[in-house]
Amino acid sequence: MTVLCDSWQRVINYLRISVTDHCNLNCLYCTGGVSIPPAPRSYALTYEEISRVVEVAAGLGITTVRLTGGEPLLRPDLSRLIGMLGHIDGIKEIALTTNGILLGALAEELKTAGLKRVNVSLDTLQPEKFEKITGSKRLSDVIGGIEAARQAGLNPVKINMVVLRGINDNEIVDFARKTISDGWHIRYIEFMPFGALKSEVGEMVSAEEIRERIKILGNLEPYTGEGGNGPARYYRFAGAKGTIGFISPMTEHFCHSCNRLRLTSDGHLRPCLLDDDEVDLKTALRAGVGTEDLKELIRRAVSLKQEQHHLAEGVGPSKRSMRGIGG
Ligand code: 5AD
Repeated sequence: MTVLCDSWQRVINYLRISVTDHCNLNCLYCTGGVSIPPAPRSYALTYEEISRVVEVAAGLGITTVRLTGGEPLLRPDLSRLIGMLGHIDGIKEIALTTNGILLGALAEELKTAGLKRVNVSLDTLQPEKFEKITGSKRLSDVIGGIEAARQAGLNPVKINMVVLRGINDNEIVDFARKTISDGWHIRYIEFMPFGALKSEVGEMVSAEEIRERIKILGNLEPYTGEGGNGPARYYRFAGAKGTIGFISPMTEHFCHSCNRLRLTSDGHLRPCLLDDDEVDLKTALRAGVGTEDLKELIRRAVSLKQEQHHLAEGVGPSKRSMRGIGG
C-alpha cells in the first residue's frame, strides 16, 4: 500500500471534497449572516473530474473521503457521485457532512449508493434560535433528517454544534442530555473566527468550559470505542448510548494529528482549512493532465502543509469564506 506523508511525517489519507459552494442556509458562524453569492455552477468540478482526482489520490494513499459544501445535498444526484467513488480501488469509506435540511428525503438513497456515515450540523434545538442562526425556519426538517439517517442505517450520525457565547451556549447541556435520552452523538466545536467572521458573530466557548458545564449531568468517561477520521476527543456519560466529542481548534489545536487535504468545489486542493495556499487542479484537469502530473500536483499540495495553523494568533484564511472552502 502506498503511503502519502507530509514534511512533518504525518500520514495523509483523508480527503474532504466540497461538491458545491451553494447553501440553503446562511449560518452566522459560516458567512457572518451575510448572504454570499455562490459561484456559477459551471465553476464546480464535474463528478467525472472529482472521481478522477479521487482515483489518483487513492493511488497515492487516500483511503477516506468526506463530501461537504456549501450544502452537498443541493448538488443534483449526489448518490451518483457516491456510487462512482465507491468503486475506486483503495477508497474504504465515504462520509458526508450536511445541514440535514434535505436529508429526510435522501438518507435511504444515499445509504444504498454506498454512504457509510453522516455528520449533521445543528446548533440549536429551538425553532426561533434556529432562524436567528441560520436564517431558516426548517429546524423540523433537520430533526426529521437526523431520524431518517438513523433509520437508514447510516452509522454513526454525529451532530456538530458550533458553540457561540450568548447565542446557543445556554443549550450546551440540552445537547449533552440528548446523548442519554436519544443516543445522539454530539460534537461540540469551538467557533473559529476568520475572514468576515472576526467581526462580532459571537465569542468562542472553549472545550474545557463546555466539559465543565455538562458535568452537571454526570461523570464523563473517556470513550475509545469509535475513532472517526477526525480530531475529536470522545467521552460518554455512564450508561449513555450516545457519545460526546470535543473539537477544539482554538484552545488545543490538533494539527500534529492532521491527516487531511481539502478539495474546493471549484477544483483547488488546499493543504489546510486555515491557510490560503492552494493548488489549482481544475485548470490542469481541463487541460487534459496525465496521471503522473496529477499525482505531482497532489504531492505538491501535501508538501505545502504547514506544521500547524495560527488562528489563535489571528492568522487565518482571507480569500474564501467557510462556504467557499468547504466545511
Ligand atoms: N467555526 C467552527 N466550526 C464551523 N463550521 C462551519 N463554520 C465554522 C466556524 N467558523 C462547522 C459546521 C460543520 C463543520 C464541518 O464545521 O458546523 O458542521
